[in-house]
Amino acid sequence: MKLPESYYNPLSLTGTVISSVSLLLIFLSLLLSFLFNAGSSYLGLFSFILMPAIMIVGLLLIPLGMMREARRLKRAKRELSPKWMVIDFGDPRYRNAASVFGIGTIVLMLLTAVGSYEAYHYTESVEFCGQVCHRVMKPEYITYMNSSHARVACVECHVGQGANWYVKSKLSGLYQVYAVLANNYPRPIPTPISNLRPAKETCEECHWPEKFYTPRLQYAQHFLSDSLNTRWDIQLRIKTNSSHSSANLSEGIHWHINPDVRIEYIAEDDSREIIPWVRSIDLSSGDTVVYEDSWVPLDSATIATATPRVMDCMDCHNRPSHNYLLPQQFVDQGLSSGNIPLLPGVKALTMDILKDPYPTEDSALVAIRTLISNYYEINHPEISKEDVNKAVKGVSDGYLRNIFPEMQASWDVYSDHIGHIAYNGCFRCHNDSHISRDNLKITRDCDACHSILMQGSPGQEEFSPVNGSLPFRHPVDIDQVWKESLCADCHRYLYL
Ligand code: HEC
Ligand code: HEC
Ligand code: HEC
Ligand code: HEC
Ligand code: HEC
Ligand code: HEC
Repeated sequence: MKLPESYYNPLSLTGTVISSVSLLLIFLSLLLSFLFNAGSSYLGLFSFILMPAIMIVGLLLIPLGMMREARRLKRAKRELSPKWMVIDFGDPRYRNAASVFGIGTIVLMLLTAVGSYEAYHYTESVEFCGQVCHRVMKPEYITYMNSSHARVACVECHVGQGANWYVKSKLSGLYQVYAVLANNYPRPIPTPISNLRPAKETCEECHWPEKFYTPRLQYAQHFLSDSLNTRWDIQLRIKTNSSHSSANLSEGIHWHINPDVRIEYIAEDDSREIIPWVRSIDLSSGDTVVYEDSWVPLDSATIATATPRVMDCMDCHNRPSHNYLLPQQFVDQGLSSGNIPLLPGVKALTMDILKDPYPTEDSALVAIRTLISNYYEINHPEISKEDVNKAVKGVSDGYLRNIFPEMQASWDVYSDHIGHIAYNGCFRCHNDSHISRDNLKITRDCDACHSILMQGSPGQEEFSPVNGSLPFRHPVDIDQVWKESLCADCHRYLYL
């Protein structure tokens, strides 16, 4: 089949080869993922993004080569007859070119439609977000896979619906791809994310504030760092909503998101760890109360220029899917689930090992293995190798799920604002030092948010009466210090 003379030039021919080969590869990879139903994340990157891009470059080379060739032929005085823009259907070469072009365009348009649809879905998929740049997104991906939202796509929280957000996120994504290639992305990835969509458009697509949640029972087992790993259990009834469903959001923790309530605050910096100024507005009556931190108040100039943030779900649930546990938390979980056997002094030992940061995952795993093995070999030779190895495995697994030295991602940089023990969380405002002009306080009353139903070591527990609450007893004797200082003052760095 003959084509116009100008087609026969190295550039157009190369373009043809490139585009045909990439088209073939696209078909092959689609066939592979269809047959085995297990397209890896790289296959998607290959068949929906890389290969189509190469194919388009190849296709562009064809007319480019033809144009150059036509000009060259003209200059060589072997002008194409008639002028090259005129298509002469009497000439079989032009008929051929026109049918190749016509059929090619239709096939290409079909492919583009399917391809861009697939590319759209692919770039919105969890594999694309979490696995393709697996070194960078590893901490977020692993913590996500261990969260209650492991079946919710990254984009449901991070991008949301609509072409507008799609384009926005892909534009910023382009920069991120560059940052990864140039290896100059920040470690750890900064948080909070300034362009995260508002909770109304993400969380509230699935959970809506008007829904009544019954109080939540939370039962935790802790282990003290003494030689017996003394167990200390705590059971709480967390007052998520009011005590009866008809009162719904009028009281309880989710009162903050009552549509008639608007809480605004000014934080000291982007991390939102320190909140010196809070305003609570009752939208139905218009009553406003301003609470200011009596220890470190903000000056009036800062207040006047700052734009207060309106409190939403993410101010408490900031780690719904990337929760980095502290060593004391994941070791307690391991001991409680039995993944780490209760060897003598194992809690204290592991806290001692994990108190130091390690530069890499490998060095941490080596340290965990050698230090635990050596300790039991020397101090408790009677303990079986099997149990020691199980402890090594349990601690290593916890480490791998929660601490990511290569990305510098861990509990130390990503605070969790629910609760108040390891981080100030609720106590950023509820610390008894936020006081209004009329002397109202944002309460730190231990019964305001939960009732303690049970506490103590097994066999010596105290139980609360039905619907009652126990006064808190601190597991180790620290006198009354827990009443005055914030729990996180000690607990965040307890073992360091
Ligand atoms: C249930 C909602 C949700 C899902 C699903 C989700 N994220 Fe997040 N993500 C968040 C929130 C909330 C933050 C913290 C925002 C803040 O504090 O401003 C966050 C933070 C991040 C950060 C910043 C670093 C950090 O840890 O704070 C990255 C990166 C990230 N997410 C990536 C991902 C990836 C990749 C996936 C999918 C594998 C994913 N996210 C799935 C809600 C989600
Ligand atoms: C696509 C739907 C979807 C979106 C979007 C979503 N969630 Fe969820 N969420 C769920 C489902 C489903 C569950 C129940 C999972 C389970 O019980 O295993 C859940 C559970 C929860 C829980 C209770 C479990 C726990 O870990 O304590 C909280 C809290 C929560 N979501 C908060 C949020 C927040 C905050 C956001 C926004 C950043 C959000 N969710 C966005 C579907 C969603
Ligand atoms: C003032 C802080 C705060 C705000 C704001 C807040 N929550 Fe919660 N929420 C909590 C606490 C505390 C719990 C109890 C569970 C826990 O301790 O993890 C909870 C529980 C939940 C649960 C789990 C209920 C259950 O028992 O399974 C869901 C789902 C949830 N919240 C969704 C939301 C959504 C959606 C928003 C925003 C519209 C929101 N929350 C705003 C503090 C808050
Ligand atoms: C930005 C500041 C701020 C943060 C953070 C905050 N709160 Fe509040 N909270 C308030 C204010 C202001 C009030 C209203 C005080 C009042 O009227 O007594 C309040 C009231 C409450 C109430 C009483 C509601 C009622 O009337 O029954 C509960 C319960 C509560 N908060 C729980 C929590 C929990 C749990 C957290 C952490 C997950 C939390 N709060 C985080 C500011 C905050
Ligand atoms: C503003 C609300 C609020 C106040 C006030 C409050 N707590 Fe809590 N507390 C919480 C929440 C929310 C959690 C659950 C966090 C989670 O989801 O793990 C919690 C958890 C706890 C736990 C369980 C820890 C664990 O890991 O088992 C204890 C113990 C506790 N609180 C003691 C106290 C004591 C003592 C006081 C009084 C000094 C107090 N709380 C005041 C909100 C509050
Ligand atoms: C003066 C420092 C200090 C303060 C303040 C403090 N704690 Fe502790 N807490 C400790 C020490 C030390 C331990 C024992 C740790 C161990 O043996 O592993 C402990 C242990 C605990 C445990 C047992 C689980 C664990 O992590 O080992 C709980 C639960 C606890 N504290 C709750 C609280 C609460 C709630 C508050 C705030 C109301 C608080 N603590 C304030 C020092 C403190």
